[in-house]
Amino acid sequence: MKLSSLVYLDSALQATAQQWANRFKLPCVDGCSVAAAKPKVLQRFLSAQCAGEGAAFVFVLASDGLVLHAVEEQHGLSIRADFHGATVTYRRKQGGGKGQMIAKAVGVRSGVYPWVLDATAGLGGDAFVLASLGCRMTLLERVTAVRALLEDGMIQARRFGVAQDAALVEVLDRMTLVEADSLNYLREVSEAKRPDVVYLDPMFPVRTKSAMVKKEMRVFHSLVGQDTDADGLLTAALSCARYRVVVKRPRIAPALAGPSPSHVLEGKSNRYDVYTLEKLPDGLNASGAEGKL
Ligand SMILES: C[S@@+](CC[C@H](N)C(=O)[O-])C[C@H]1O[C@@H](n2cnc3c(N)ncnc32)[C@H](O)[C@@H]1O
Repeated sequence: MKLSSLVYLDSALQATAQQWANRFKLPCVDGCSVAAAKPKVLQRFLSAQCAGEGAAFVFVLASDGLVLHAVEEQHGLSIRADFHGATVTYRRKQGGGKGQMIAKAVGVRSGVYPWVLDATAGLGGDAFVLASLGCRMTLLERVTAVRALLEDGMIQARRFGVAQDAALVEVLDRMTLVEADSLNYLREVSEAKRPDVVYLDPMFPVRTKSAMVKKEMRVFHSLVGQDTDADGLLTAALSCARYRVVVKRPRIAPALAGPSPSHVLEGKSNRYDVYTLEKLPDGLNASGAEGKL
């Protein structure tokens, strides 16, 4: 994955843009002149930043946050971590609550809200669902660009929440992002920081018929690469978690190497392999969220 630069589209964001650019040691480019232009013109401007660099991605900072733009796609494609858009908000407010398969896999039930370490956080979708259900979440993501999207997604959502959605702020308060490679973290974590549950969702080659999902997944794959060390993660997770390890897999994928799961929850396209170490005790509540859900 090669990044060319960071382009900002609003002069009020210049200082913030420069901070992000410094962090990534990337050139900071003023794109304000094309901010209001037709998408085609903006796309051409962004592609021009990558030409000659052999780069496929450019960061774009606008008033609605930070995105990673893939210029090689026919009409470009923007990737962001979204915790306050219409779709995630609908799921947070109207979704299946504790009845969702992910909640059952992790062990959320009335009075039980475990502390979950999401060791493969990606863009934070699963972690956000679990935090919405009342779990305290620690998110680990090793790809710097993805971690930046996560960090900015949380900043944007908090800004929105402070202005108009206090419940969203409570969810975000339960999420902590840590800069680490999970393999090292899981092996070295102190006794006090051992989570109740470790959640793993490593990359797996995409096999879907949906063109749009395919495009987004393909771009995300080219961004983070293959998680070839996922089997090692399961071993480390099993010695770190207090009560259980949950592995999300495409329904047809083989289980990670290691012991067989204690039980499996199967959905239409995904399944959850649950490795139970000990029963989650009644009243386990790592976040103090009980009674609100
Ligand atoms: C399939 S994505 C996870 C998607 C996530 N569950 C979501 O809901 O957005 C897998 C992510 O795990 C990250 N990852 C894989 N192995 C890791 C490790 N050892 N440490 C930290 N992150 C890791 C990858 O960089 C990638 O972003």
